[in-house]
Amino acid sequence: MRLFFALWPDVDTRARIADAALALRSAGDARPVPQENYHVTLAFVGEVTMSQLAVLQQIGRAQRGAGCTIRFNAYDYWPDPQVVVAIARESPASLTLLWRQLHQDLARLQPDLNLKNPHAPLRPHITLARKVAQAPVLPAMSPFDWNARSFSLVRSDTGGARSVYTVVDTWQLLDERPKP
Ligand code: 2AM
Repeated sequence: MRLFFALWPDVDTRARIADAALALRSAGDARPVPQENYHVTLAFVGEVTMSQLAVLQQIGRAQRGAGCTIRFNAYDYWPDPQVVVAIARESPASLTLLWRQLHQDLARLQPDLNLKNPHAPLRPHITLARKVAQAPVLPAMSPFDWNARSFSLVRSDTGGARSVYTVVDTWQLLDERPKP
């Protein structure tokens, strides 16, 4: 099974993302991401066996990261994966810490997990459309906030006509620290 750690939106956040996606005009073969698939990838793991799933659940359970508010404030086009994304120009410190800790833990257990490339730079984003072959003209975004209170381990099934994501496990983040 193919797994990844992600922030998974609650109903309100999903609605805010859908509003942001509405402002985009899709063109050509571009495929809007279905609302139920919206997420922020924290760490892509890839194919694992059932026994490795337990290791990933241990990693998830061991995290002590704090919740945070992520402000998404721009659209971007990434030509290599051919996607349009909503990006947060700044990552809250606690999100960076969670991301770093997850990647450290995955790297530590890499021999057990047989990962190929567990490292990717942190670029907090939500993919809104795929198969965007040409750079579109992107409007300015009305910024919106994602109050991240938990993170999840998610299974990705890509075999069908479109990707199906299933949340396997969710862990609460600690209370958000008040801003100094
Ligand atoms: P995304 O978060 O940029 O949309 C599940 O497949 C999720 O993990 C996808 O949403 C995808 O990108 C991300 N993903 C897929 N393959 C990846 C890879 N090889 N490296 C990093 N992230 C990947």
